Amino acid sequence: MKYKRILLKLSGEALMGNKGFGIDQVRLTEYAQEIKSIYDAGCEVAIVIGGGNIFRGIQAEKGGMDRVHGDYMGMLATVINSMAIQSALEVLGVQTRLQSAIKMEQICEPFIRRKAVRHLEKGRVVIFGAGTGNPYFTTDTAATLRAIEIEANVILKGTRVDGIYTADPEKDPAATKYETISFEEVYDKGLEVMDMTAFTLCKENSLPIIVFDMNKKGNLKNLVEGQKIGTLVEM
Ligand code: GTP
Repeated sequence: MKYKRILLKLSGEALMGNKGFGIDQVRLTEYAQEIKSIYDAGCEVAIVIGGGNIFRGIQAEKGGMDRVHGDYMGMLATVINSMAIQSALEVLGVQTRLQSAIKMEQICEPFIRRKAVRHLEKGRVVIFGAGTGNPYFTTDTAATLRAIEIEANVILKGTRVDGIYTADPEKDPAATKYETISFEEVYDKGLEVMDMTAFTLCKENSLPIIVFDMNKKGNLKNLVEGQKIGTLVEM
């Protein structure tokens, strides 16, 4: 196995599957099966999931809502998704612990770094909910921060495209994919991998990022085993 400890970042939207809103049970189970495949192989797995399928702070601001208020609602949305993933994993017999950056004692543990690491060592999948617990930060930033804190080998950004392209492949058919790219090149070419806060945090801590297609069966397992899948961003 190439990566012993990973942080998997999933988007909330991905959980919608073909639905327009909320959580698609079929997609949720598929994701849980993919995660179980690397868990069974002995990989230590931490997960951060977005909340965009339920609530988006930035869009709410456009509708007149206070940004900070909207961001907190978005953080709560990530906890709902985290609970969904937790349940889907446990149905498959995967041990999990959910930790939230905002205290919700009745539902999950508070985020405690040392406890999270211990859970990983004991073979539990650890899910981090409620982002960083602060407004103005994305779940990509939360994922990066947690990945650094738990000393993950890599952050795996599961998306619906299979890597980073020279241009948006959904708009420009001539776009080509990078197998690897440096942090500098991403800055120079103005490519969008993560928001700048998250991306810079990765760079400053030499945390490699792999962007890959989470919807393709087997991708996650093959990636963790060292196959070249998606695009690797490294120093
Ligand atoms: P170890 O003692 O290291 O083996 O970890 P553990 O998670 O098994 O022990 P602990 O006694 O901390 O937790 C037992 C169960 O209670 C686990 O399912 C935890 O997720 C859960 N738990 C622990 N702390 C909290 C909390 O503050 N709130 C909620 N809702 N659950 C918690």
